[in-house]
Amino acid sequence: MDFKQQVVDALVKVLPEEITEEQITKLIEKPKTSDLGDYAFPTFILAKTMHKAPNMIAEDLVGKIETADFEKVVNTGAYINFFLDKKEFSNNVLHEVLTKKNEYGNADEGKGRNVPIDMSSPNIAKPMSMGHLRSTVIGNSIAKIIKKLNYQPVKINHLGDWGTQFGKLIVGYKMWGSEEEVEADPINNLLKYYVRFHKEAEEKPELDDEARAWFKKMEDGDKEALDLWSWFKELSLKEFQTIYDRLDVQFDHFTGESFYNDKMDAIVDTLEEKGLLKESRGAEIVDLSEYDLSPALIKKTDGATLYITRDLAAAKYRKDTFDFVKSLYVVGSEQAEHFTKLKIVLKKMGYDWADDIVYIPFGLITTGGKKLSTRKGNVILLDNVLNDAVDLAKKQIEEKNPDLKNKDAVAEAVGVGAVVFHDLKNDRRDSFDFNLEEVVRFEGETGPYVQYTNARALSILRKAGAVDYNVDDLAVTDEEAWDTIKLLQDFPNVVDRAASEYEPSVVAKYVLKLAKSFNQYYAHSKILAEDEGLKARLALVKSVSIVLQMSLALLGVKAPEEM
Ligand code: ARG
Repeated sequence: MDFKQQVVDALVKVLPEEITEEQITKLIEKPKTSDLGDYAFPTFILAKTMHKAPNMIAEDLVGKIETADFEKVVNTGAYINFFLDKKEFSNNVLHEVLTKKNEYGNADEGKGRNVPIDMSSPNIAKPMSMGHLRSTVIGNSIAKIIKKLNYQPVKINHLGDWGTQFGKLIVGYKMWGSEEEVEADPINNLLKYYVRFHKEAEEKPELDDEARAWFKKMEDGDKEALDLWSWFKELSLKEFQTIYDRLDVQFDHFTGESFYNDKMDAIVDTLEEKGLLKESRGAEIVDLSEYDLSPALIKKTDGATLYITRDLAAAKYRKDTFDFVKSLYVVGSEQAEHFTKLKIVLKKMGYDWADDIVYIPFGLITTGGKKLSTRKGNVILLDNVLNDAVDLAKKQIEEKNPDLKNKDAVAEAVGVGAVVFHDLKNDRRDSFDFNLEEVVRFEGETGPYVQYTNARALSILRKAGAVDYNVDDLAVTDEEAWDTIKLLQDFPNVVDRAASEYEPSVVAKYVLKLAKSFNQYYAHSKILAEDEGLKARLALVKSVSIVLQMSLALLGVKAPEEM
């Protein structure tokens, strides 16, 4: 049932004809507090046509509006305030949630439409950074959100598995490494060689020439170079996989940069045909000065290709393969210029679908206000972060619920969930500081708080035993329940908004509100009291747990039954 439409219908009947239904729909507001009703209509724009002061207009109109559908309709200054019929509203919403269950909020707009999502995309032979974690969890959540609208997400891990850095790594490994050392602790040791390479190359620039030569060998198909590279890659992927498993994130494709090696010639040819390539000091570039941008570097002097060359090939490949409606890239905001250039070059090549490429930037994670950099070796290791979060979660569970069964599994769900939730609750463009104690708290705006609320709802339902909700009257009329019921009704809009803004924080903020309002309700009412309202109250609790779990699932956070 569309309650807003009820308000629109009531207004259409009493407003002058020149105000269209569409205008009315746009003008309707949701008051901040319930004492001003559930919907409000401002009458200011009528002043001209009706030659009256807005508050007079509001007063007149209230007398004319049919009130049968509402609890009441009143005027406050220039506004007309509509109070919904709580009984009907509650009955309607709870029935809808309980019949649709996990399909509540689903829509069909994306049917048959592919949406590739470039996400995670860490660099081989380096630790996965907090930035890659952000890309992973934001991308994963967006995939789940758009899937609810029946889009077909295609999750692509565009691994950084090609480029001059592998030349550096080979040089470093050959000078300072050994097979045993690498096998023992692959990523840390490879990182060690890489960091040392950068340090020593400051004094010995010839190392850089050597590294370039090794990368060139890779591009030319040299066996020794490629064997080392694929060994590094295999070891790195194994370590990344442990993190993906903990996060419960799966990919449809692990097509990294190297996948496009045989697809770049075609790109370079097209650039040439269209007269876009220019030579500049031996390198091949696309000039972008008309956009006030530095040129897009397509090939270096030695013929080596670059990051953007591979992204051009990848973009085209995705269009050819998936015929996407949108192609998403979840990548840190420091790469904004890269994606601006990518789209411009594709457009210049004559690919109008470049407009369907959506760059989804996100802000940095800092610790103690400091930015983290791999080159200098001061990264936080993601696995350690997750371990620490799980330890903290375990401590709190021991205190709160020492008898809990499968404590370790719950602690894993709570600790990892806390990190993921924290990452998603802020607008993705915002940078934020990472403080573990904050993240894993059971109170406040955290993942564990939402998980705890859901566990509380489930425990009430366990106490109540089996209930048949298939009854006509599920009206909860307690004043304290009203906000919760309205939030439940809002869920489909929340999913919609999160999808259209590619913004998981819309869901995270919503679920925090729902948890908070439910806890307030719980504190103020005797849910399990044996009276005639019991069934409806349990239906409310059940609906809340369904929507809490669905929201957490959309964020990629687990919902333990007990904690
Ligand atoms: N590997 C890159 C990095 O860590 C991110 C790749 C993003 N995706 C892309 N298609 N460029 O910075």
